Amino acid sequence: MTSTSLTLRCTGRRADTHDVASWQFAPLTGSLPSVLAGQCITLHTTIDGQPQCRAYTLSSSPQDGFWQVTIKDVGLVSHHLHQSLQVGDEIRVDGPFGDFNLSALPCERPLLLSAGSGITPMWAMLRDELAKGPDADIRFIHSARSPEDVIFAAELAALAEAHPGVRSALVLEQAPAAHPWVGRLTPDMLRELAPDLLTRHVYLCGPAPYMTAVSAMLAELGLPAEQLHQESFGLPAAVPAAAGSDHFWLTLKKSGKKVKILPGQTLLAALEGAGETMMAACRAGVCGACRCTTTGEIERQSVMTLSAQDLESGVALACSCTAKGDISLDY
Ligand SMILES: Cc1cc2nc3c(=O)[nH]c(=O)nc-3n(C[C@H](O)[C@H](O)[C@H](O)COP(=O)(O)OP(=O)(O)OC[C@H]3O[C@@H](n4cnc5c(N)ncnc54)[C@H](O)[C@@H]3O)c2cc1C
Ligand code: FES
Repeated sequence: MTSTSLTLRCTGRRADTHDVASWQFAPLTGSLPSVLAGQCITLHTTIDGQPQCRAYTLSSSPQDGFWQVTIKDVGLVSHHLHQSLQVGDEIRVDGPFGDFNLSALPCERPLLLSAGSGITPMWAMLRDELAKGPDADIRFIHSARSPEDVIFAAELAALAEAHPGVRSALVLEQAPAAHPWVGRLTPDMLRELAPDLLTRHVYLCGPAPYMTAVSAMLAELGLPAEQLHQESFGLPAAVPAAAGSDHFWLTLKKSGKKVKILPGQTLLAALEGAGETMMAACRAGVCGACRCTTTGEIERQSVMTLSAQDLESGVALACSCTAKGDISLDY
């Protein structure tokens, strides 16, 4: 599926929790590109004269006929969108992107695990699966701080009520006395909530620390690696610049400027560390915004959005690419 750049009109906005809101979008003319449940888009905006973009998963399902994003107010761009994006506004959007979806890998009995705003792809996938097969056998386990932080709480309860094949559970750090799942997700909770875990495919999404903890837990419980599919919303940990450590040189083709890059550090991190600016939306090798052309030995951690010809001609994603020696870069 190819992605497109388009202008959409905001047709709706609603508050989901105290710090999360959803926006709906429609095309100015014609229809929206087709999308797979779980894919994301890039929203573009301008803050203090500087163009900015970030990746957001569509929380709408492909059957909805509109696109919806659900955004937690956590930082620069999300806060700006919360403050400024209103019904009637037009916004530039790229996408859809990404291969985090159930359609690519037929999976009859998924276990959807999410935390915080990581619920967005799960919500899209859950609704898409139920539209295709209302009796689908789906486990949906969502972690949140408190009942007030659960996004789509009422809709999720209604869906589970209407579809006996859906078993959902909320794991809450702060919960009312009667709530059965309190604290953070544990292996015991997983065993109880999904006793047939090892026969399921698991989809996992949330902040980086949640992902690290839960994927380790799943491996410990014996889930084969090929049955785990994940997408992280957090940024990959930055490689700290140790004084005197080995480094390579990254030469910017246009200016001739030389930038130090450490083994294991991404091209994007090295550039930003040297005060250079580069468009980067997802920082996770999903959207293609940080596409650049390299010469020299590199290692790509993601090749999403890149064609075989791109790979041959040194095109890489700066957020998901490291240097194996001195390299030069054009973007
Ligand atoms: C593929 C993909 C899909 C995404 N989908 C969504 C989505 O559906 N909804 C959504 O709200 N965000 C989503 N994100 C995260 C989003 O792209 C931004 O990173 C997020 O909005 C923070 O950007 P910012 O400019 O507001 O904060 P910044 O100023 O760039 O960063 C502020 C801090 O917030 C942390 N942070 C980033 N995202 C989150 C988060 N979701 N919860 C808690 N802390 C966070 C960052 O690690 C950073 O330390 C997605 C990211 C990716 C890579
Ligand atoms: S910023 Fe999205 S692929 Fe690099």
